This record gives sequence, C-alpha cells and structure tokens, in this order.
Amino acid sequence: MKILVTGGCGFIGTNFIRMMLRKHPDWQIVNLDKLTYAGNRLNLLDLEQDEPRYSFVQGDICDRELCMEIMADPHLDAVVNFAAESHVDRSINDPSPFVTTNIQGAQNLMECARQNGISRFVHVSTDEVYGTLGPEGKFTECTPLAPNSPYSASKASADMMARAYFETYGMPMVVTRCSNNYGPYQFPEKLIPLIYLRAKADQPLPVYGDGMNVRDWIWVEDHCLGVELSLLKGRDGQAYNFGGDAEETNLDVVRTILSILGKPESLITFVKDRPGHDLRYAMDFKLAAEELGFAPTIGFRDGLVKTIEWYENHADWLDQVQSGAYRNFMNQWYEDRT
Ligand code: NAD
Ligand code: DAU
Repeated sequence: MKILVTGGCGFIGTNFIRMMLRKHPDWQIVNLDKLTYAGNRLNLLDLEQDEPRYSFVQGDICDRELCMEIMADPHLDAVVNFAAESHVDRSINDPSPFVTTNIQGAQNLMECARQNGISRFVHVSTDEVYGTLGPEGKFTECTPLAPNSPYSASKASADMMARAYFETYGMPMVVTRCSNNYGPYQFPEKLIPLIYLRAKADQPLPVYGDGMNVRDWIWVEDHCLGVELSLLKGRDGQAYNFGGDAEETNLDVVRTILSILGKPESLITFVKDRPGHDLRYAMDFKLAAEELGFAPTIGFRDGLVKTIEWYENHADWLDQVQSGAYRNFMNQWYEDRT
C-alpha cells in the first residue's frame, strides 16, 4: 500500500508514520507537510536518510497543482489527512489560518483525491467538534456537532465537507474523531509538554480557570492505531470516535506530572480562563471497538511516565523546537493570561 500522509512532521503524524512503517514492511509513505511552526522535518530525518519507503515533500495542502501532481501517482492508494492548525488558544488569537488550512486545505485534498480516483481517504478530526459535555454522559458518533472555538468550528466544517464528498460523489471517506493525545514529539504549547517544561524550570504552572475542566487522554500510538484501523477496515461514509478511557481534570493532570517529577504543588498558578472553554470531553468508542476491533492499550499514569521519560531523553528536541518565535508567542500568551 502507498499512502499520502499530510502533516506528517507534526506530533501525531510523526508517530503515525513511524508506527506504520514499522508495522507494515510493504507500505510506502509520502509525507506532505508545509512545515509551519508546529512541523519539524528533523522528527523524521533518519527515515529521509535511510528508509527508501519514506519520502518527504514540503508543501501546502491548499496548493491544488502540487496535490494533483502527488495524487496523480497511479500507485497511490490512500490519503490520511493530519495536516491542520491544531492549537485552540492560537485559533482564539487569529482564526484565519484555521479556516485556510483546516477547511479550504482539507477540501482541496478531498477534491484532488476525487479527481484522481483515490480509493480511500481518512480525514483526521477531533472530539472537539461535538462541543462540550456536562458532568454526565459521553459523545457518540450521533452527537450533533456543536463546536465552540474557531479551531473546532474549522474541524467541524471539514467533517461536514467529508460527509458531503461521500454523499454527493460516493467518495470512500472515513472520519476519525479522537480525544486529547499525549506522548513523544508533542509541541510544548499543549498542556502536558508545557507543564513538564515549566515544572522542570521551577516556573509557575498556568492552570486555566479553576482547573476542573475534564479531558479524556489517549496515548498517541493508540490514536494512530485507530487511524490505521479506519484506513484498513472503516466503513465508507462513517465517522469513528476514539478515546483513551482516561478522564482527568486538568488540575489532576498537572498534579500527576508534579508527582512524577518530584516538584512541589506550590508551582500551580490559576490564571484567566480560556474564552469559550469546553467543560468536559468523554468518548463513547463502542462503534470503533465493535466494527474495527479498537481498544486503547495503556493507562494514563503509565503513558504519562513514558511521555516524561521521552522528554527527559530528548532535551535536544525540546531545545530545537523552542525557537525565538515560540518564545515570543509563549511570553505574550502568559502575559495575556496573568
Ligand atoms: P500538530 O500541530 O502537531 O501538527 C500539524 C502538522 O500539520 C504540522 O507538521 C504542520 O507543519 C502541518 N501543517 C499545518 N498546516 C499545513 C498545511 N497548510 N499544509 C501542509 N501541512 C500543514 O498537530 P497534531 O496534534 O499532530 O494534530 C494532527 C491532527 O490530529 C490535526 O488534524 C488535529 O486536528 C487532529 N487531532 C489532534 C489531537 C491532539 O490531541 N493533538 C486530537 C484529536 C485530533
Ligand atoms: O480534544 C482533542 C483536542 O485536544 C485536539 O483536537 C487539539 O488539536 C489539541 O490541541 C487538544 O486541544 P485542547 O485545547 O484540549 O488541548 P490543550 O493541551 O491546549 O489544553 C488541554 C486542557 O488544559 C484544556 O482544558 C485547556 C487547559 N490548559 C491548557 C494550557 C496550554 C491549561 O489549563 N493551561 C495551559 O497552559
């Protein structure tokens, strides 16, 4: 099988490419990535150098000519679209790039895939398209889409476009909706690596609001497994939920990181809440369990220990991704919140 993976130099894409090439000796992967602030070509440099089944193209999923050219390859079987602007806080500061990449870019890929008769398209979406839950219940695939941030609104729009491509053109389309991922290579603007970095440096740890918002956390390779199963076994036109069965308040996540690192809870600082902050996410992934055989493989604390071990052993990676632009964004973001 030959697959076009987009956004493969980001957090989940990097893990997906590594895992798929490891598991499937006969697979070839082309990675199309624009290399935004969140994309790091060095994540997969060893594959570029030593793995003939892997190739990298720097480019934009909005670029019609380029995407048509890549998908004209008669050996290309499938597209897996990870490419996105992915950070909710950035979408609140400026929604425009989210509309461009997450909606227009996704539609451009779908159109190129349609014109080239690609036999499978997996669009990677998120649980955030469902909006927020109260203290009870879980999202199912039938929960109406009710996004609350510019990020989730852009993702929900692409989900609707995927649905339209299936209904209108019969395109072999599967959508995946997953909860919060954690693990190696996550960019340190997101909660877990951010708290890790700041706790290591004995800096105040910003917890939004009262810290009682709940997220369901999934080990990144479990999400990759869900995407792989969707690619191989998903029903055309279907969306599948994936989760880690690990609901945690943000405050508990921060406390667990502190306990693993042996750092004091006095570092915790409550800061201004995120506007439109969703209270709780929880996933019912029965459909994926029954139809695809999906089950998460690792519990939250064990996964967190593995994640922290990875960051401890990859201080060079953390240095690399903390560019001047990263520092400017984080300083401004911290100032706005305190
Ligand atoms: P990320 O921000 O770490 O990586 C995104 C990648 O996409 C980067 O490599 C970036 O360079 C690339 N990219 C951005 N715009 C592009 C464009 N116009 N053309 C080509 N490449 C472009 O994101 P992530 O956390 O790895 O998320 C990947 C996907 O999974 C996203 O679609 C996101 O919505 C979805 N998702 C993420 C999570 C999570 O917890 N991180 C959970 C559920 C779903
Ligand atoms: O649920 C899936 C989504 O998970 C993905 O679709 C997104 O791409 C991904 O970024 C993630 O979104 P969140 O907004 O949930 O992730 P983030 O790590 O930014 O925040 C997790 C929770 O922690 C959220 O409730 C906000 C809170 N938070 C976050 C940061 C960065 C804090 O309290 N303090 C912080 O400094």
